[in-house]
Amino acid sequence: MNDSPTETPIVKVNLGLDVGTMNLVCARVNKASKIEIASLRNVFLTVDDVNIEGMDLSRISHARIDEGVFILSNDAYNFANIFGHRLNRTMQKGMISPEDINSTDILAVMIRELLHLPPGAKAGKCVYSVPGDPVHSKSNVLYHRNILSRIVSEIGFDAEPLNEATAIIYAECADSDFSGISISFGAGLTNVAVVYKSIPVLEFALNRGGDWIDDNVAMAVGTIPNRVVAIKEKDFHLDRYDSGRKKERKVREALGYYYKNLIQFVVKSAVQELERRDLDLGFPDSIPMIISGGTSLAGGFLDTIRAQVEEIEWPLDLSEVRYAGDPLSCVAQGCLIRALKQ
Ligand SMILES: Nc1ncnc2c1ncn2[C@@H]1O[C@H](COP(=O)(O)OP(=O)(O)OP(=O)(O)O)[C@@H](O)[C@H]1O
Ligand SMILES: [Mg+2]
Repeated sequence: MNDSPTETPIVKVNLGLDVGTMNLVCARVNKASKIEIASLRNVFLTVDDVNIEGMDLSRISHARIDEGVFILSNDAYNFANIFGHRLNRTMQKGMISPEDINSTDILAVMIRELLHLPPGAKAGKCVYSVPGDPVHSKSNVLYHRNILSRIVSEIGFDAEPLNEATAIIYAECADSDFSGISISFGAGLTNVAVVYKSIPVLEFALNRGGDWIDDNVAMAVGTIPNRVVAIKEKDFHLDRYDSGRKKERKVREALGYYYKNLIQFVVKSAVQELERRDLDLGFPDSIPMIISGGTSLAGGFLDTIRAQVEEIEWPLDLSEVRYAGDPLSCVAQGCLIRALKQ
């Protein structure tokens, strides 16, 4: 009779992590072999900001770093809306924010929470997203990539970066042999990639996104950006401005103008960039354009971008312009696919 205790095999967990200016998203394969998505808002508040010093924080996601206490992610978002306070970000324009000395430490706490391992599991590979180099501005992509690699490695994972827009092609373009052009309309940046048979041919970023819209609309109508975000994310449509009170209608109208300007800017800049690089993009087959990212979720967005794309001559042959299956998680899913491939 064998009376040795039954040993549970140690499971190695591979993950995909989308590190976004506004959202951190993790994709993993669960016990039922299904892809499971978890996300956190990449925002924080200092306790001084919301005046809850000395209160019981046990039910609130928070971190103590040096002398400071910080309320994190979704709790920070909710408190900011209640108190009408501006949220702090660990990232700006797709990269670690230089504005707060604690940005990196706070980001590390949130990533650790998101990448948690079940008991008995072992950290495997974690492929994390990085932006492309912005075309119209200087960037710190190298610093950002290295900080992320350190954070993910310190949790115990084997860390590997992957361009955010290229990840979308891995998640969405199995049918076209992993060829396509993807545009990720995020909060801090808009990322673009052209991938041919899973090889990235071109990757770049444009320094406008949802934050650019929110800041401009807030300035135009005299409110704070998170109030604009609340209206925008609830039920905004690019061509409908007539619901809500007068102030809300003004926000909706301004959102419409800035949204259309952003789409026009991205489409024009993408074509200019494809032409400027002087690559031979004459692929044998036409390729799909995949639209993704939270900013693309506004009502009427896909119709507007399709109309803009049709108006301009593209240096490559497009078969269709369509949404990613889930525009908020497809980057993390593409990162997961890459993590599982090796
Ligand atoms: N339903 C919605 N309608 C309009 N905008 C939305 C909606 N949901 C989210 N957004 C906006 O999408 C943006 C966040 O998108 P996403 O999560 O793709 O960005 P990110 O990955 O965090 O940023 P980045 O890729 O630029 O670093 C924010 O500006 C947010 O306000
Ligand atoms: Mg993103």
